[in-house]
Amino acid sequence: MIQLFHVFKTYPPNSQALNDISLEIDKGEFVFLTGPSGAGKTTLLKLLFREEEPTNGQILLNGQNINRLNRRGVARLRRQIGLVFQEFKLLPRLTALENVALAAEVVGTSKNGSHTKAYHLLRELGLKEKYTAKPLTLSGGEQQRVAIARAVVNDPMLLLADEPTGNLDAEIADETMRMFLKIRERGTTIIIASHNLELIKRYGTRIISLRHGFVADDLQKVVRHEGMH
Ligand SMILES: Nc1ncnc2c1ncn2[C@@H]1O[C@H](COP(=O)(O)OP(=O)(O)O)[C@@H](O)[C@H]1O
Ligand SMILES: [Mg+2]
Repeated sequence: MIQLFHVFKTYPPNSQALNDISLEIDKGEFVFLTGPSGAGKTTLLKLLFREEEPTNGQILLNGQNINRLNRRGVARLRRQIGLVFQEFKLLPRLTALENVALAAEVVGTSKNGSHTKAYHLLRELGLKEKYTAKPLTLSGGEQQRVAIARAVVNDPMLLLADEPTGNLDAEIADETMRMFLKIRERGTTIIIASHNLELIKRYGTRIISLRHGFVADDLQKVVRHEGMH
């Protein structure tokens, strides 16, 4: 589904963030992107979302070269990608339900349809008591889970998360990961940039390690999720 061919990214004047990255990620994979600060994790996510363009090399999404997209193509691409950040970026005046619904409304779903979708999604993700709560009355973990619901309300094919548990303590981070796994069951491909080794050990099925913009390691492993079902 995602193919990178000899991708380089240099930020002006001379900061080499990615250095000859070639990778393939299949539909439905659950990938951790790890590596020390400055390794190029965020840059790689930004290239997939077309927030940045590679200096060299090609990125194909479902066979399509995303660097050739015009403005409309970029808009269409972005509608198929959900984003989650370390900061939750919820709108404080809206309820949890409204925050999620708004993301559906802005891509053209009717107000009713959006609210219905948001309602079912929050229920599916175990947040149904929080429909009417304003973000600031929620815990950090709950806010992040609402933010994740918002990122997937339009059924993206790909979910990109940049240090999503960076501000959460261990137990809450665990809940957040379980939510990502639920989303994966919907068929969404998930890429999580993180340097939380504990989580990666527990949940990583594929672990791509970057160092100085190179792929230092690409490990696939079978993990069992204790106490999950
Ligand atoms: N907008 C930018 N301008 C210049 N250099 C940048 C910019 N964004 C990132 N970099 C540099 O690119 C490298 C990779 O950064 P980044 O992708 O943010 O790494 P990570 O997310 O793994 O910490 C770092 O050396 C960083 O300083
Ligand atoms: Mg980063």
